[in-house]
Amino acid sequence: MADNPLAALAAAPPWTPESWRARPVWQMPVYPDGATLAAVETRLRRYPPLVFAGEARRLRAALGEAAAGRAFVLQGGDCAESFADFTANIIRDTFRILLQMAVVLTFGARVPVVKLGRMAGQYAKPRSADTETKDGVTLPCYRGDIVNGPEFTAEARIPDPARMEAGYFQSAGTLNLLRAFASGGYADLHQVHRWNLDFVERSPLVERYRDLAARIDATLGFMAACGMTSATTPQIRETDFYTSHEALLLPYEQALTRIDSTTGEWYACSAHFLWIGDRTRQPDGAHVEFLRGVKNPIGLKVGPSITADELVRLVETLNPGGEPGRLTLISRMGADKIASHLPPLLRAVRRAGIPVVWVCDPMHGNTIATAAKLKTRSFDAILAEVRGFFDGHGAEGTWPGGVHVEMTGQDVTECVGGAHQLTEDDLGARYETFCDPRLNAEQSLELAFLLAEELQRRRTPHDNGRTVVVP
Ligand code: PEP
Ligand code: CO
Repeated sequence: MADNPLAALAAAPPWTPESWRARPVWQMPVYPDGATLAAVETRLRRYPPLVFAGEARRLRAALGEAAAGRAFVLQGGDCAESFADFTANIIRDTFRILLQMAVVLTFGARVPVVKLGRMAGQYAKPRSADTETKDGVTLPCYRGDIVNGPEFTAEARIPDPARMEAGYFQSAGTLNLLRAFASGGYADLHQVHRWNLDFVERSPLVERYRDLAARIDATLGFMAACGMTSATTPQIRETDFYTSHEALLLPYEQALTRIDSTTGEWYACSAHFLWIGDRTRQPDGAHVEFLRGVKNPIGLKVGPSITADELVRLVETLNPGGEPGRLTLISRMGADKIASHLPPLLRAVRRAGIPVVWVCDPMHGNTIATAAKLKTRSFDAILAEVRGFFDGHGAEGTWPGGVHVEMTGQDVTECVGGAHQLTEDDLGARYETFCDPRLNAEQSLELAFLLAEELQRRRTPHDNGRTVVVP
């Protein structure tokens, strides 16, 4: 590492897809077999891109609307997708609950929703410790299925480059199904009743959702009478759904970075949207270097240890052109810190004059351990952080642009609280995550109703149904 990172940055050579390799890198696996790694990278470089640059530009434009206070971002999915959960039903159920949440927000708050799955590539995980110890045995930690295996054996924990290729093909399969769902009729608003999952049927929320679905049906009936049907209006029969993941495993990301033939610009083609994690946001580090050069819309996780100066510097590095929609700041402070930590950051970024989308991740600052040593999060803490996020933006006159949640369409028991008041004793029943605890489908829907209420509160009485920023 250079003695003075700032001087090194100023003298930095121009960006290339491999310029990150000259920077200090955190959280990167060390592959014991360099020849196999190189062979996998060579093959990945030849494989077709998973997304098109034009789609990433479309998402950037949609996020630009969120930066301007005219749209809301819903980003969600597993903490870590797993190779074992690569099934049509699991993909469908996550997609479906995201659609339900989006419809609650769109209809409830009259705000366009940008739908972004933590899906089709969310396989690499940063870890707080390099090793894990169980019953006196210490092994390298699990770093996500694209790197090594979750099983607690020495063999499974060896980083294996072949997993990158498996990750590529599973991302392609997931993306293919998501595209089919988004445009093939499944997401047609006439299906809104059918999206209800069986176990949500037993939920106290079911009446609220049924009521909303009935009102949407009535609206669609009225629109059809006016000549706007699924056949005439594509917005009724299909939706835009985008993919995202943490751009952690840089050899993989580099191999899928391509020049867009229509603009001559570089795009990371492993997903539409990539983000930098809270543990890899060092201004002179490899991850910031890699993402500053691709033209995709990107995200930056903003945890409680960041200072306003550091954040402004990162915003300037990552969005030097001040392009709306290019940069999303995902704050993850914790319910107890958001009121003191967020407002100074909102102020500093606003003063810097660079547009960003502010999104709230109410999950990662609220992880606790149970007496039985399971990681969990309390639904109340999650809601408290979301409320703190809205309050902070309300006080600073900035737009609370979205949420980023770890959730699943499955009926898991990983977060305590919610309408069914899950307790620590319930967690053992269906605790299935490969990494952090997720909201289950019912808790996700409950969060969506709360968000819709918060957003509604922010609308002025005379705005003709449009959402505007209320300082
Ligand atoms: C994550 O989003 O899964 C994650 C690891 O978050 P963070 O970088 O904010 O800790
Ligand atoms: Co996580």
